[in-house]
Amino acid sequence: MKPIYLDYNATTPVDPRVSKIICDSLTGEEFGNPSSTHHYGKTARQIVDHAREKIAKSINAEADEIIFTGGGTESSNQAILATMMSDLTGFLKRLFSRKGHLIISAIEHPATYKPAQFLSSLGFEITTVGVDRQGLVDPGEIQKAIRKNTKLISIMHSNNEVGTLQPIEKISEITRSRNILFHTDAAQSTGKVPLDVNKLGVDFLTIAGHKLYAPKGIGALYIRKGVKTVPYLHGAGHESGLRAGTENVHYIAGLGEASIIATENLAKETPRLIALREQLFEGLKNELGDRVVLNGHPTLRLPNTLNVSIIGCKGWEILEKTPEIAASTGSACHEGKVLHSAVLCAMSTPLKQSEGALRLTLGRYTSSEEITKAIDLICKTARKLMA
Ligand SMILES: Cc1ncc(COP(=O)(O)O)c(C=O)c1O
Repeated sequence: MKPIYLDYNATTPVDPRVSKIICDSLTGEEFGNPSSTHHYGKTARQIVDHAREKIAKSINAEADEIIFTGGGTESSNQAILATMMSDLTGFLKRLFSRKGHLIISAIEHPATYKPAQFLSSLGFEITTVGVDRQGLVDPGEIQKAIRKNTKLISIMHSNNEVGTLQPIEKISEITRSRNILFHTDAAQSTGKVPLDVNKLGVDFLTIAGHKLYAPKGIGALYIRKGVKTVPYLHGAGHESGLRAGTENVHYIAGLGEASIIATENLAKETPRLIALREQLFEGLKNELGDRVVLNGHPTLRLPNTLNVSIIGCKGWEILEKTPEIAASTGSACHEGKVLHSAVLCAMSTPLKQSEGALRLTLGRYTSSEEITKAIDLICKTARKLMA
């Protein structure tokens, strides 16, 4: 029997409809370079343009506001690093001018906080705003953190570990009134909740293909029309001069298809996933009682994400002893040392609770039978470990 896959926030399998589009484009006439002006180039260009339109439609953007990247990490680096550095001209000016200020939250993915750390090492000012016990950023804290030279605010749309959804619209009211650029990392939200860049009021939005049933190594960045940024990768003028390198036509075709499938499925898939997620949570609570504690927000949360702690157990031991389940833990144990999840720490989660955390994330192919089985397997292991 194959292990039950409950790790959809780590990555998703490629949807067969997506892999068909990719395979067809690999073996057909779409091998041309989209920059070439002959038949083969034009065919490839059509594929790229069509995919761009599909992605734009799925987040209510214009096609020319989308650039393709190598994934979520590159999209966020483009939005954060390139934008923060876009004002700097000349080494001396860089040394002596007052550098821009960036605000991020304490639960960002490394794709955001690592560029922020790098900017800090160059002398940029960074403020990290905290979150509450459910993983929510307080827009009031952001308001307080704003300085005269705040150039960009980057707050993730939803968190990859606990699934908490952030008040992006409230934050954008602030950024718009203060003329500050706003990036949101929506790698985990794309395809799981409705996204409308105009309602959200963001200037940049990160998309990662492999979180929405497209392959790894393809992503997109929404850049609001008129927003100034500079290329992160330098070379020929692909992607409106913002992302040099011949487009990955085949994966771009796959990402376009994946975003349309996700958008069309959303209304049906959301209640199905919430029901399965609640079946899992209730099942664990019925078996193990008060030892089962939710990490994350009870309602403002991704429909597929259940991060629970089983108090008295260590999450990694449960997974080690339950190979029939493929999931993630909150904290991990390396060479005898416990490495606590930075996200759970930022949420002031007690250490015992953080040690017991399991990240169980559901997706398109999760069935109710699998959830029933998973409850049984996890509870059996937990009881053994507690005995
Ligand atoms: C919230 C978030 N942002 C960014 C990324 C990075 O995306 P990619 O793996 O495509 O670089 C991930 C992937 O885990 C993520 O969960």
